[in-house]
Amino acid sequence: MPASRRGSGAFTLPSGQVLAIHTRTQDEEDLPHATKKTMADHLRKYESLFTLTPQRMRMIVEAFKETLEIGLEKHGQIVPMIPTYVFGWPTGQETGEFLAVDLGGTNLRVCLVTLQGDGKFEVTQSKYRLTEEQKQGDGQDLFDFCASCLKTFIDSNFEEGSLQPNELLPLGFTFSYPCTQERIDQGTLIRWTKGFGAANTEGRDVAEMFRESLRKKALLMQTFQNVPVELTAIINDTTGTLIASAYVNPKTRVAVIFGTGCNAAYMERIGSIPKIKHLGLDDGAEMAINCEWGAFDSFVHEHLPRTKYDVTIDESSNKPGEQAFEKLISGRYLGEILRLVICELIDDGVLFLGQNTYKIEIPYALDTAFLSLMESDPTEELLMIIGIFTHFFALETTLAERQFFRALAKLVGRRAARLSACGIAAIVSKMGYLEDGCAVGADGSLYNKYPSFPDRVHEGLQDIFGDKGKRVLFLRTFVGSANNDEDSERQGYLHTCLNTRGSRL
Ligand code: GLC
Repeated sequence: MPASRRGSGAFTLPSGQVLAIHTRTQDEEDLPHATKKTMADHLRKYESLFTLTPQRMRMIVEAFKETLEIGLEKHGQIVPMIPTYVFGWPTGQETGEFLAVDLGGTNLRVCLVTLQGDGKFEVTQSKYRLTEEQKQGDGQDLFDFCASCLKTFIDSNFEEGSLQPNELLPLGFTFSYPCTQERIDQGTLIRWTKGFGAANTEGRDVAEMFRESLRKKALLMQTFQNVPVELTAIINDTTGTLIASAYVNPKTRVAVIFGTGCNAAYMERIGSIPKIKHLGLDDGAEMAINCEWGAFDSFVHEHLPRTKYDVTIDESSNKPGEQAFEKLISGRYLGEILRLVICELIDDGVLFLGQNTYKIEIPYALDTAFLSLMESDPTEELLMIIGIFTHFFALETTLAERQFFRALAKLVGRRAARLSACGIAAIVSKMGYLEDGCAVGADGSLYNKYPSFPDRVHEGLQDIFGDKGKRVLFLRTFVGSANNDEDSERQGYLHTCLNTRGSRL
């Protein structure tokens, strides 16, 4: 076998002209061998790589359960099982006005939520896309940006004089990264996840960093109000979703985020959290636990079925070894897994012979949203897939190739959903929720926008638990709301507010 080389490239000549080249990665005599294999043959190979049997899933569930228990027993474990200091469930009757800032994996959102009681609420919000510089720059600058956005939001949503002099609006900060907490209004960042790498932040209290940015803003700005807020709660998106889902459906027991990252929270009896026994809290009371399950199997890699594509993603990430579970599941990585398979077939001389493939060879060029578009292409000719490849990658495809891409997308998406089911099953089984059934609050772009994802998670639960798996129901949006993004975002803000309120009781 000749050594495999990338097939294409583009160079800028000193004259400014761009020269595109394509080099065959196989010697001429190898070509017939490479093309003899049909796409269906190739697909079979990937099927066996990406398919998870029910038996394998049950093994993963057992290992997961043990990991969750260890995290509750001892501090500093790989899956940290973080006590959140959010005590118990909401009643659904909470009322009031609250501000929330949500620093997620992709966007920053600022909003004002009015809780109206009876599970009803209203939201006004602004959304800002985070740049790569903000994600990788200095941490304090990132919080300065949050403070600026908040300031702009307050100025445009509160009329002059509408706040009493010295009145402080309670602010909840949804910070969706692993933080250890000693109180609800404090959180020390354990490590960045989801590709963030802002300097001078890991190991520091991010609530205090944000307060510092708010203070600076107050000194700098001389408009009608400074930044009249008091940061009263810092919470993870999963914890928030747990509380928000319970606000509308009291059967909620678990919450999962399937977005840029993947993680879960649930409510634990304090007596079952040995590592906080020294605090002398009431054993019978309950506290939400932010599992940070994305870290499951990190570093050791002994339980999860990693392919060489997963290994490549891990090794070329800014955090090799970390977030092993998340890297197989979340929206940040699924498109990249598919892209790596495609690149392998380009290298092997199977795909796009004679075409310039440089666009698809750019890391992370294939967004996870394309997977869901490919899967939901309703046309016989797979016109949507033609569009994706010609428009974004300047590549022509045959029908057989398009069918192959669609099937591949299914394999990658299905594996992600079934692995997620393993995590949910571990919590459900550990907590004994199967007999009576329970509701799982779910949110995130993957869950809301990838059409077959929810069904596949559900199917995975039935493969693990048999028919009883049907007793685990998923809640995507609020009762009476249409299933759309706006509702999902509305839910996001509601959760932060409920926790902000909780901290003030
Ligand atoms: C990552 C973060 C976690 C968050 C999840 C979903 O896993 O570490 O805190 O809940 O993404 O946003």
